[in-house]
Formats: sequence, C-alpha cells, structure tokens
Amino acid sequence: MAVLPYIVGNWKMNGTRAMLAEARAIDRAASRFPGVEVALAPPFTLIGAMREAVNDIGVGGQDCHVKPSGAYTGDVSAPLLVDTGADFCIVGHSERRAMAHETDALVRAKAEAAQAAGLGVILCVGETEAERDSGHAEKVVTDQLAGSLPQAGDAAAKLSVAYEPVWAIGTGRVPSVDDVGAMHRAIRAKLVATYGEAGAAVRVLYGGSVNAGNAAELLAADEVGGALVGGASLTAESFTAIIGAAAALAEHG
Ligand code: 13P
Repeated sequence: MAVLPYIVGNWKMNGTRAMLAEARAIDRAASRFPGVEVALAPPFTLIGAMREAVNDIGVGGQDCHVKPSGAYTGDVSAPLLVDTGADFCIVGHSERRAMAHETDALVRAKAEAAQAAGLGVILCVGETEAERDSGHAEKVVTDQLAGSLPQAGDAAAKLSVAYEPVWAIGTGRVPSVDDVGAMHRAIRAKLVATYGEAGAAVRVLYGGSVNAGNAAELLAADEVGGALVGGASLTAESFTAIIGAAAALAEHG
C-alpha cells in the first residue's frame, strides 16, 4: 500500500443534486480516516455543488478537453474544471477510449492540459478480455503508458495511474491478486523508467468491480496504492467500507 492510499469514486453519468446527501455522508466518513485520501468524480454538472457540500474529500472531473477555451461546443476544459471547484481529473478512462475513440496521444494531451491547469491527474489504462486471453495484457498496458503518460514539466508530481482491466469494469469479475500484483509491478517499472525516482512515488490504483467484499484483498496486492471505484462509490455505505479497508491496511500493513 502507498503511504497515503488514494480511494476515488468515479460516478460516471450518475449523480443529480439529490445525491449530494450521499457525497456529504462519504465526506463525513472520510474525515474519520485521515490516513486515506478520498475523492469523488461526479458528472461535470455536479462538481460545483459537490465542492460546496464537502470539506475533506477531493472533487474532480471525469474528462477534459485538450484546449483551455474556444469553439468546442459541449466540451469542458481543464481551466473550467478548476473554476468550478475541481482539484483533479480522470483521463483516458476505457469508456472514453472505446466510445469516444480516444487515442493514447489524445489522452497524453489531456493529461498535460489538466496538469497545466493545476489539476491532479488519474490516467487510466487497461487491457480488453481478448488482449488478456492472448497473453498480451502487460504489453498492451505498458504500450498505453508509453503513449499516454504526461511528459510536460513536473509530470509525475500530480499523477496517479489507474489500472482498470476493461473486462473487470462493471462485470463483478476481478483478476486474481497475483495478476493484479504482476500488472502493477510492470506499471511501476514503466513509471520508474519514464520518470526516474519520481516514478516510484506515483500511486497506482486498481479499478474494476472493487466492492466492500473484495477491497481488502485487492488493495493488499503488490504495488496497489488505492482504488478507482465505479458502482460501489455511489452509496456511502459501500464506499465507506472500501475506505475503511484501505485505512486498516495502511495502519496494519
Ligand atoms: P466498477 O467499479 O463499476 O466496475 O467501475 C470501475 C470503473 O470503471 C471506475 O472508473
């Protein structure tokens, strides 16, 4: 586990103002676990209101445009995220890589745009089921990193990487703890090769069907510094259990 584990909820396209009560409950729970850094990424529309509603947790976006402003109807830039109260941004989520056809080069540009605006970045990578079955998962993921890790300035300083196997997202299926550890070691090696010593401090999160029941085991895998949680971050009850599992591990090893 990382010195300060990072537990992030990705609400995806879920979250009306009615769900702010859930965010407040998560915030209260997080304040009881100071040894864990907690954050939520609601839809763009809820970021400002969530920022006002919480005290102890980070609030971030799920995507940003590469340009700071301009004629890009429907898009949201990193400086706009900052203006509405975000402190980090997820980039390269597999749902965007698949549905919005985002390439590694575009993901890198987004990561650099977010960092230039002062946001922390959670860069997502992960293989499909076919890629895992063909034995190429590690190459796919390290190639994604080679193409999408930010390079501008002090890129490693405000960076986390989330390993999310595509076949584990929303399916209830998770890789074995050994497979998670092996992939996270490969990601760590790539980070150190890219950034030198600074790459050793980048937190590498696991994501994909993390829930209250499996969090402790997944978080204990080699080089896992936290979790990026989808469905189980939508209620305070299940998300708090995951935060608690991270806190227990951070405390007791
Ligand atoms: P689930 O936790 O719902 O599988 O989603 C994972 C994810 O995609 C988080 O970004």
